[in-house]
Amino acid sequence: MRKHHYALILFLLITQGVVAQRKSIDQRVDSVLKLMTLDEKIGQLNQYTGDRDATGPITNNPNKLIEIRDGKLGSMLNVRGAKETREVQEVAMQSRLRIPLIFGLDVIHGYRVTFPIPLAEAASWDLPAMELAARVAARETAASGIHWTFAPMVDIARDPRWGRVMEGAGEDTYLGSQIAIARVKGFQGKGLGDLDAIMACAKHFAAYGAAIAGRDYNAVDMSEHTLWEFYLPPFKAAVDAGAATFMNAFNTLNGIPATANSYLQRDILKGKWGFKGFVVSDWGSIGEMVPHGFAKDKSQAAEQAIKGGSDMDMESRSYLPNLAKLVAEKKVPVALIDDAVKRVLRKKFELGLFEDPYRFSNVERQEKELNSAENKKAALSMAEKSMVLLKNEGQILPLSKNLKKIAVIGPLAKSEEDMHGFWSVLWPNDKLISLYQGLQDKVGKGTELVYAKGCGISDTSKTGFAEAIAAAKSADVVIIAAGEAFDMTGEAKSKTNIHLPGVQEDLIKEIQATGKPVVVLMMAGRPLIFNWTADHVPSILYTWWLGSEAGHAMANVLFGDYNPAGKLPMTFPRDEGQIPVYYNYYSTGRPSMNDRDTRYRSAYLDMPNSPKFAFGHGLSYTTFAYSNLKLSSKQINATGQIKVDLTLKNTGKYDGEEVVQLYLQDKVASVVRPVKELKDFQKVMLKAGETKTISFTINKEKLAFFNQQLKWGTEPGDFKLMIGTASDQIKLEDTFVLN
Ligand code: GLC
Repeated sequence: MRKHHYALILFLLITQGVVAQRKSIDQRVDSVLKLMTLDEKIGQLNQYTGDRDATGPITNNPNKLIEIRDGKLGSMLNVRGAKETREVQEVAMQSRLRIPLIFGLDVIHGYRVTFPIPLAEAASWDLPAMELAARVAARETAASGIHWTFAPMVDIARDPRWGRVMEGAGEDTYLGSQIAIARVKGFQGKGLGDLDAIMACAKHFAAYGAAIAGRDYNAVDMSEHTLWEFYLPPFKAAVDAGAATFMNAFNTLNGIPATANSYLQRDILKGKWGFKGFVVSDWGSIGEMVPHGFAKDKSQAAEQAIKGGSDMDMESRSYLPNLAKLVAEKKVPVALIDDAVKRVLRKKFELGLFEDPYRFSNVERQEKELNSAENKKAALSMAEKSMVLLKNEGQILPLSKNLKKIAVIGPLAKSEEDMHGFWSVLWPNDKLISLYQGLQDKVGKGTELVYAKGCGISDTSKTGFAEAIAAAKSADVVIIAAGEAFDMTGEAKSKTNIHLPGVQEDLIKEIQATGKPVVVLMMAGRPLIFNWTADHVPSILYTWWLGSEAGHAMANVLFGDYNPAGKLPMTFPRDEGQIPVYYNYYSTGRPSMNDRDTRYRSAYLDMPNSPKFAFGHGLSYTTFAYSNLKLSSKQINATGQIKVDLTLKNTGKYDGEEVVQLYLQDKVASVVRPVKELKDFQKVMLKAGETKTISFTINKEKLAFFNQQLKWGTEPGDFKLMIGTASDQIKLEDTFVLN
């Protein structure tokens, strides 16, 4: 028999095996479904929160354990721990059909070891690092009996007034899509059924980040073209990466609540995209259709939601009391309920919970996995990679290790709690490393630290200034830790004023006036506005909220043991009046060619269009030179490719990483196209003096867009290629034609 015959037989055997296994799950789902009463089916679509850690307004608080035993729950959130989940699962095993519960939790940036907030991780542009961060979080979560995280949040966000920007990957569709893939793969690892894998949940479907005026939970209104072009692609990327579940969104989209939006959940997600997982409501979003004015009561809300494609009801208690009656009244076909239940049961089979409902609830494994040295090391590395060096005039950074005295000033200098950031899993007596602690652990005996708080985060008292100024005057260098508290950015934390809070900038001015070398570390969950500081302080590091190892990471960067390479994933405005301001804007018919060109131009009389810091901005302790851009051809046809090569040289004295960014502009098309769009990037390490050739490939995928008929495709025409170190720092340009 020839070799290829063996290969064919082997292929057929494997396929049969996979089909058999798959068929066995689908068959087993059907066999369980057949045994279920309508009430038991509806129970599987009902999810309650545990009493601890509730993350939304609790509507009422029935005796959940009785309802679990009676088969009225399919899942719980906010129950965590190997012991705790086992106890609750044991109750579920008393139900008639012994269908196991799925336990879910918001593991947004780490479970026991807290990682930098997702927006900070996005600033690393380091996809393997972000995948590892999710992998570590998944290992710890799974070891605690939890099967499911409500992450990644993949909402594109162009409005820093919206507090939930901290939870996502920023403003760019391409970067956001790549990060969505990395995070889904990180959470789901080798696949459901593996003891280290947890279900990912792409959220919030859809366009929640475009809440009008940046006010959380507010309406979203946008053209379908904008929806498809900018807001949906990260969700599609999550589906393609195999995301097990989706979560819908609180907002309306063009007048229809996302929760009942069958265009989103059925036509697009389950229809066009073929999504086989299930959709959970966001907290009480089903019941919230009553205050939305879309449902007259929870019964109508339940009808609209199940028809709209929302499979599981988190915490609104709309499905449990109403669906059976709606079926009896022939308002809801039982087939819709069966479809939702099968989607839920399929995940329970894939997780292996029918074989062993307690397989994740293992105390020994939990003790071994949580807070391990390996996990903390991953968090430290992620934190180092997340920081963005905004300025470093006069190369004050990196600091010498021979400094005699360093003044450490500011309301966040000794804060541990704020290093958590929003949406972290809280632990009693948790120990996070503050900036001050990190410096203490770093400096040698010959270096003295002197601390002064100077002022609070948001109070207006300046009584602490004198002490801080004295400390600064006594030191060789001053490090100021400014910013916002961890609960000033996050869910339900929208702000009209995103300036540095309180009198912190007055403190910075006074310290700067001492004439001492000053470094400002800005700790926040969103882009803040701090124009005076940005204009006058020579060295500024945006550190976001960096999690458990924050202080060690900041100390490593400050002393040059890690050369910062972060790039901003969101535009930093000069003023709230510019918002929404983002890099991939449309030209308009009267583009303003520079900050002074305002006469009959699309510009403001009182402020430049340009932001304070642009998308993709971030410096290094070294410098890089870009040269020698070469295109393999100046023409490309729809099936072809163009190879792009350029030379990158590390022209400084430190080894360092650079994020080389590739932007394209489609000069003329049947719908206007942005002045530039990120279409690829590479993060490369170069030793001091080293030169590398960096290569990209341009293919049809990178030239495609949604046309007037919302059809994805390309159109012939001229394209501009831009290679930059930031969206506003283009180093090399060329053009090519798509035939
Ligand atoms: C919250 C959030 C959502 C979270 C859910 C469960 O309100 O909107 O992102 O996953 O409820 O905590």
